[in-house]
Amino acid sequence: MKTLVILAHPNMEVSRVNQRWKEELEQHSSGITIHEIYKAYPDWNIDVSREQKLLEAYDHIILQFPLYWYSYPPLLKKWFDDVFAYGWAYGSAGNKLHGKKLGLAMSIGDKKENYKRDGSVSFTVDEVVTPFKASINHVGAVALPYFAVFGASFQATDEEINQSGKEYISYICKYQHVAGNLSV
Ligand SMILES: Cc1cc2nc3c(=O)[nH]c(=O)nc-3n(C[C@H](O)[C@H](O)[C@H](O)COP(=O)(O)O)c2cc1C
Repeated sequence: MKTLVILAHPNMEVSRVNQRWKEELEQHSSGITIHEIYKAYPDWNIDVSREQKLLEAYDHIILQFPLYWYSYPPLLKKWFDDVFAYGWAYGSAGNKLHGKKLGLAMSIGDKKENYKRDGSVSFTVDEVVTPFKASINHVGAVALPYFAVFGASFQATDEEINQSGKEYISYICKYQHVAGNLSV
């Protein structure tokens, strides 16, 4: 089974984590396709039909991005708005994402210990990604557990980022072969 990675980073030239993860994906040979939406659509004019055809061709889809304001970078939000359309993704005839496995791979600027009820963020990452899980439920797909590296703004060392790249590949391989009806 193949994996599609939708990579959404507005500024890859200054990225440490997402750039490293991209290099790791490129080195890995087992059926991973990377689609960089900020590169594909510098004018933000998303080709909806192209994106839908791409999604239809994969059962395992990862959205990779840096966490911005506890959410997606804006072009990825627009991508959802445009591509997950009525009659295609939802509605009585909208079944194209049914059963597909979707996961999130996020670089998170803040430290892990702050993402808890009594931490400075006051919410867990699982709570932060609730809109994603609700969206996935709405289109009949399966939300995989998320993958993340914390401290991505300052704390993470080059060694930790390199290590996270290896763990990212393991995360992808783990769910590439799991049947679509798993519940998490
Ligand atoms: C506009 C903006 C908003 C951000 N919002 C958050 C946030 O809500 N929570 C957080 O932990 N880090 C936040 N960060 C830090 C980014 O998550 C961090 O810079 C990024 O994950 C680093 O990945 P990169 O090396 O691939 O650029 C934000 C950064 C920017 C530029």
